[in-house]
Amino acid sequence: MVGTVRSAVNRSGPIVAASKQNLYAELRSALASLLAGERDWIANLANTAALLMQELGDINWVGFYLLKRGELVLGPFQGKPACVRIAIGKGVCGAAVQRRQSIVVPDVHAFPGHIACDSASNSEIVVPLLRGNELFGVLDVDSPSFGRFDDDDRVGLEAIAEVLIDASVVGE
Ligand code: SME
Repeated sequence: MVGTVRSAVNRSGPIVAASKQNLYAELRSALASLLAGERDWIANLANTAALLMQELGDINWVGFYLLKRGELVLGPFQGKPACVRIAIGKGVCGAAVQRRQSIVVPDVHAFPGHIACDSASNSEIVVPLLRGNELFGVLDVDSPSFGRFDDDDRVGLEAIAEVLIDASVVGE
């Protein structure tokens, strides 16, 4: 177990995969190894953001907003400093919480109410963190390229969110 964790931590280069589905399958298994034996929510959020920043190409921001007392509050992330609080229903993140669904935005400038934290971002995907009906926050990934994210990314990142939630004692 420790050996597996070490190999995930000391990964020497990017995952090479033939397709997005393969990449996300590799990422799921790398994340499960990285989080194995550790249930701490903040530590697991932080390592998930770091792994995604390391392995997903063409992104400029990846991280979490956590639902606290009825609003989203910035959690562990990689990228430029970002806005801290987002109301439910506002921006892509708040809309994903309201809809309880992932949102793929090919052009953030065309999304009504999009909140621009990093001016380099042109496309975005937001995936809710769910366990059953309980929603804990969102995973948000931004790219400088238009149309960077598609349905394969949605399915892949929803599976990544599930690995994270299953591995963690959420809220502690
Ligand atoms: N663009 C997001 C805000 C968060 S940043 O992208 C990091 C939104 O519209 O909700």
